[in-house]
Amino acid sequence: SPDGPAFLGDMSNAVKSAVGSERVICALSGGVDSAVTAALLHRAVPGQVTHALVDNGFLRSGEVEQVVTHFRDWLGQEVTVIDASERFLEQIRGVADPEVKRERIGACFVREFEELADRIGASILAQGTIFPDRVESGIGGSAVIKTHHNVGGLPAEMGMRLLEPLRDLYKDEVRSLAAMLGVPQPIIGRHPFPGPGLAVHIIGEVTRAKVAVLRTADAVFIEELRRAGLYDNVWQAFGVLLPARTDGAAGGRSTSRHCLALRAVTGSDAMTADWARLPYALLERISLRITSEVPEIDRVVLDVTQKPPGTIGWE
Ligand code: XMP
Repeated sequence: SPDGPAFLGDMSNAVKSAVGSERVICALSGGVDSAVTAALLHRAVPGQVTHALVDNGFLRSGEVEQVVTHFRDWLGQEVTVIDASERFLEQIRGVADPEVKRERIGACFVREFEELADRIGASILAQGTIFPDRVESGIGGSAVIKTHHNVGGLPAEMGMRLLEPLRDLYKDEVRSLAAMLGVPQPIIGRHPFPGPGLAVHIIGEVTRAKVAVLRTADAVFIEELRRAGLYDNVWQAFGVLLPARTDGAAGGRSTSRHCLALRAVTGSDAMTADWARLPYALLERISLRITSEVPEIDRVVLDVTQKPPGTIGWE
């Protein structure tokens, strides 16, 4: 069982024999799956790993700094941060179709890792893909729900070998491994966040301006959730930015305004989820703050859809 120390030893040995004496890039996202992958590599093949975080420009507020600090404090490892935000944005300019967005973003990630691999002489890319990522992407003939960037986004020909030690595990199993490996609590408890990031929480075309609007609003939502002591009670929470409308609003001037949907769900494996019954007083505070602090948003709504039949994210 994934709870036993023997399981950890077996995984560590499997990683060791898969890597041999080669150099590995460990792709980090800031979340628990990639942190556990990093911890396994650190245990199995210390000194052969380069930890890399690709800043795709769609990360949440303060995320790059948090990842760098966590890894320095916890493993004593420096994270190589690759600022690729301009390149990612360029690749999805004008793209509204969610599957095309995911595919292009997945391909961008691989290109960045391949360039890094060339620079440092690495031949293996380790990533924190877990079982539900593969199921949703339609492995083994199951229906595609949505193509996760780290699965279906991979090009047919890749210059690197993939290493995915967690590919058969569910998130709760990854979290118990994390505890055994001494992963810091803020990482273990962090809400899941999709690799394509804010780009798939913006419905339709992604622009730099929309990313900035959503990043600010999303941070307010999460801050209020934490303040209310409810962050750990929900599986995942985020804002979704809906396409702008132009209408007569503030001061009689015609302005372009967005609607923000609040999405918060409870659950334990992302395969099913229920909408979180957040207190009205909290929802009111979030709505008041967002509409006053983010001028581009003039309407806030709550998503009350279960999965199935819905999904957690909107695209
Ligand atoms: P859905 O929206 O399908 O999402 O109910 C299920 C879980 O998967 C996350 N997700 C992704 N994670 N790359 C990821 O690493 C992706 O492309 C991706 N798409 C969705 C989503 O945030 C939720 O936790």
